[in-house]
Amino acid sequence: MTSLNATSDIVTSVAADALILGVASDGTIAPHPQLPADAVAPLQDAAGLLDASGKAGAVTVLPGTGTSARRVVLVGLGDATERDLREAAGTASRSCGKNPDAVVVAIPAADDAGYTAIAEGALLGAYSFRDYKSDAEPAEGEEPWAGTSWQIAGASTGAIEKASILAGAIAGVRDLVNTPPLDMYPGAVASVAQHLGSQLGADVTVWEPEQLAQEGFGGILGVGMGSSRLPRLVRVEWAPSEASTHVALVGKGITFDTGGISLKPPKGMETMKSDMSGSAVVLHTVLAAARANLPIKVTGWLCLAENMPSGTAQRPSDVIRIYGGKTVEVMNTDAEGRLVMADGLARAIEDQPDVVMDVATLTGAQGVALGSRTSAVMGDEEVRSAVFSASEAAGEDFWPMPLPAHLREGLESTVADLKNIGDPMGGMLSAGLFLKEFVGDTPWAHLDIARPAFNEGSPWGCTPKGATGHSVRTLFEYLVTRSQA
Ligand code: BES
Ligand code: MN
Ligand code: ZN
Repeated sequence: MTSLNATSDIVTSVAADALILGVASDGTIAPHPQLPADAVAPLQDAAGLLDASGKAGAVTVLPGTGTSARRVVLVGLGDATERDLREAAGTASRSCGKNPDAVVVAIPAADDAGYTAIAEGALLGAYSFRDYKSDAEPAEGEEPWAGTSWQIAGASTGAIEKASILAGAIAGVRDLVNTPPLDMYPGAVASVAQHLGSQLGADVTVWEPEQLAQEGFGGILGVGMGSSRLPRLVRVEWAPSEASTHVALVGKGITFDTGGISLKPPKGMETMKSDMSGSAVVLHTVLAAARANLPIKVTGWLCLAENMPSGTAQRPSDVIRIYGGKTVEVMNTDAEGRLVMADGLARAIEDQPDVVMDVATLTGAQGVALGSRTSAVMGDEEVRSAVFSASEAAGEDFWPMPLPAHLREGLESTVADLKNIGDPMGGMLSAGLFLKEFVGDTPWAHLDIARPAFNEGSPWGCTPKGATGHSVRTLFEYLVTRSQA
């Protein structure tokens, strides 16, 4: 992806498969400093004849006759907020034909942040997961949009750089999550982390199953012991010398969630390769911090296990011991996320971070409460509101949710310190209260991204079908803000 700062006329002199232009709310083509009015006039006439709409994300495609592009893609910019720009560019980039060699985007923005949003949207909209299609061109290690030359008119090189880092991180999450669980098991995720960490200068440590047992990670082991592919804990660290703040991120990494002995019905299992989204988000957020050279220390924890039913699986009513010593009665083996996350949180706070955050596809109740696009954030009020602000700045949907004290009673066990399920009403909140038991006094926020992590519906904006990469932008924005404080 490059910035396009040619002085020549973009409409008639830059060859491309598609030229993407914005449509303002009054239906006129949004003027861009690099679009001469006389070159746009005939396109404006065509846009008028076709009733091109300025509604956010409305797409009108014109033949490129009279231009140097094969087609002109007009996209409505709505109120032209950063978020509108990102989503519009995403929608437009899905209307550029199959495998375009070159796309020029000439949507105007008020500032660099706006151009970053446009560039991000264009790349993310072009994402597709083709690794398992037999006709796919093998593009080992390349980002899915690498086959296209993307030129973003008006963007600075800084804007392009930031967009590439964020879009690269989000695509990285999507690839990990979309990869079938046959190939993406705990050991495989750990290998990917080691490989990417060494490329980008992040330190990666892997706890093999024997070490997990020696050190007492009973949650990760308990969940993972039903599978022949044994669990792992991974720590990824970005620690620049100038950092004065340390943020720990803990991610749920269930590479497949069958429910275990408390087996899910078939329908409920179909999308459960998405249950490692939190750990994928954590990995790629730390790597993005490294790529952007953010002056903040970030440690990412990937709690990796496959939740399978078998003769070696844990049983409902088993009692396990979480790292640090607390015991948990496992009443439902399908409430496994909180068990691996408890281990991860308990270990993460041992390094004394200034704040700890966890990201998890934790409960179906999240979707019932907030739907498929809005994630929940719970935890200490200050951290919770910082995450919420970061999400607004990043253009992702989060909503603050409470941790009502009375629900804590439901987690009391007669035989252990806690049980892993509570009051059936408010299941997302009980899960949050369970995790709270393992963060000590460390300022903490819990992000439940269960549904938004995986789009079962049609593509929208820069979100494809399947894995979305939701919450990377919010966490990255939070890190940027903290590193400046
Ligand atoms: N991974 C699921 C949560 C989930 C459900 C994520 C749907 C995405 C879509 C989690 O491990 C789970 O099974 N949670 C149970 C907890 C219950 C047994 C207390 C749930 O939400 O039903
Ligand atoms: Mn489960
Ligand atoms: Zn799960």
